[in-house]
Amino acid sequence: MLNLSKPTEFIKPEANCLASYVLEMLTAINVDALKPSFTQLPEDPYLEGHYRFRRLSHFQVMGNRLIQMPHRRLFQSKQYNPLLGDVIREYAELEDELIQLEDFQRLIWEFFQFCQLCSDSNEIAVHQIRTTASSQQLGNPAPEGIHRDGVDLVGIFSVDRYGIDGGETHLYKTKTDPPAFSKVLNPGEFLVFRDDQYFHYTSPVKTVDVEQGTRDVFVLTCPGLFPPDA
Ligand SMILES: [Fe+2]
Repeated sequence: MLNLSKPTEFIKPEANCLASYVLEMLTAINVDALKPSFTQLPEDPYLEGHYRFRRLSHFQVMGNRLIQMPHRRLFQSKQYNPLLGDVIREYAELEDELIQLEDFQRLIWEFFQFCQLCSDSNEIAVHQIRTTASSQQLGNPAPEGIHRDGVDLVGIFSVDRYGIDGGETHLYKTKTDPPAFSKVLNPGEFLVFRDDQYFHYTSPVKTVDVEQGTRDVFVLTCPGLFPPDA
């Protein structure tokens, strides 16, 4: 159990989560403090191509306390994930050193402000994901294509982009409309949207001038996605 440091410098967003998405630059979070933990992510064994690395933890916010929940597995139905739907996936928990960082806790706190507005749940899943690209291999942050996650709320926080081009994040009202939002999320930028309002997608990344490029993000959802028996 951790005490969650409440940042005072955040201004509660005016945006109505029912109507639109929110993009903000979280200047109160030092992304440099979060970067080292991305170098120690286990490979995602459920994906071919050896280009995605990730961890997953679940948290509850109770008052001003952040509580890490017992280890849980991830499950999406085929309805939401045609590629890995109906597969129970298991990922290692986020590292304790990361969870203890004030800069990490601020991110959860910020996302929780939106959860309070947009969800009945006080449970947050935090996916820590690195997508790599090499001269032989593109990295595909969303191999399932344009999709929903099947949650109330999704947040994507960019921590680092190293030696890559691409990785543009798109939101769509329908799968056939042009995107309502298109942007490369730069480090420190946080995009939050209602999953039932927008489909989302991030385009593949390719390397530029380095042997291996990386895209590091946290994807937060409210609530998490658990196997039926959990
Ligand atoms: Fe997604």
